[in-house]
Amino acid sequence: MKIALVNGDGIGREVIPQAVRVLDHYAPDTEYFEVEIGYGKWEKCGIGCDDRDIESLREADSILFGAITTPPDPNYKSVMLKIRKELDLYANLRPVHGEGFNIMVVRENSEGLYSGIEEMGEERSTTLRVVTSKASERIARCACKILLKDFKNGTLTIGNKANVMKSDVLFRDTCIRVADEMGVPYRTAYIDALTFDAIHNPQKYDVIVTTNLFGDILSDALGHLVGGLGMLPSANIGEEHSVFEPVHGSAPDIAGKGIANPIAAIRSAGMLLEHNGIRCHDEIEDAIKNVISSGMRTPDLGGTADTISFCDALINKLE
Ligand code: NAD
Ligand code: IPM
Ligand code: MN
Repeated sequence: MKIALVNGDGIGREVIPQAVRVLDHYAPDTEYFEVEIGYGKWEKCGIGCDDRDIESLREADSILFGAITTPPDPNYKSVMLKIRKELDLYANLRPVHGEGFNIMVVRENSEGLYSGIEEMGEERSTTLRVVTSKASERIARCACKILLKDFKNGTLTIGNKANVMKSDVLFRDTCIRVADEMGVPYRTAYIDALTFDAIHNPQKYDVIVTTNLFGDILSDALGHLVGGLGMLPSANIGEEHSVFEPVHGSAPDIAGKGIANPIAAIRSAGMLLEHNGIRCHDEIEDAIKNVISSGMRTPDLGGTADTISFCDALINKLE
């Protein structure tokens, strides 16, 4: 397996090397190459990610990505969005599971309010929310496939705001059509009430499919159920490429202290391994549970452990 590593900035540089230890454990023959992308590169070169970087990323079977700090430049275009677009990573899978619930947020990853079609003005700025039947159908099929494969007797929830936006009428109705075609039971829900309800009654939910920005916000909000952003992994999936990254960002408030929770990055590495046919999910989850219940936790989970000690204990369990 050939893996590109993007540490990025802030705690990305602290958690990715630890997640690589888990990759090494399951796939010791992996070939790695690092791609320097992010704020550090932007400071040096004035660009966070150039076309050569994208070409390097294309060489990998999968990419493990930390996080990137957004530079203070009004004209900056998000590097992550460039990567998602260039590699056609149309599905963003964000699992959230805990005692008695198992939710998969399937976030449309290519359009919506992330269309990039926008204008900055002094008195009026606009961003065009683009929803196409093609992208909606693609993400709906992806969500239905996941439901049929991993959620026996599950229900698809279609998160939307069709009461306000025509673009979401198209999204919702396309998802309904695909669910009907694929024989998937579904419900629709407005994203605002859905976010509240999923936090209060998470056991009601299985796969939630939604548009780009709603999925971004919903996935962070659901972090409340499992101890915070340090726990949540994600996978950006396309037909040819895949990028695995924690849901969290570069956390400048704790960067450099060595105390970031590495679980999100480790789980992302686990998703990368599973995507490449290496079974590890249950073992990694057991090991995480064991280490946490032994009392070893990083400060975000109320403990005093540092990033590396936590991983030492985790690798120990895996061995
Ligand atoms: P953030 O996720 O970086 O941090 C939010 C809060 O959660 C902070 O208090 C942070 O300390 C805490 N936190 C996050 N991950 C943690 C972990 N693993 N362990 C312990 N605590 C953790 O979000 P933000 O502060 O809004 O953004 C910071 C920077 O990251 C911004 O420049 C933003 O644009 C960028 N960002 C990048 C990505 C990415 O590259 N994928 C994702 C989100 C945000
Ligand atoms: C995420 C992040 C990104 C997003 C940013 C950094 C572009 O918040 O992956 O959740 O908004 O998708
Ligand atoms: Mn986000």
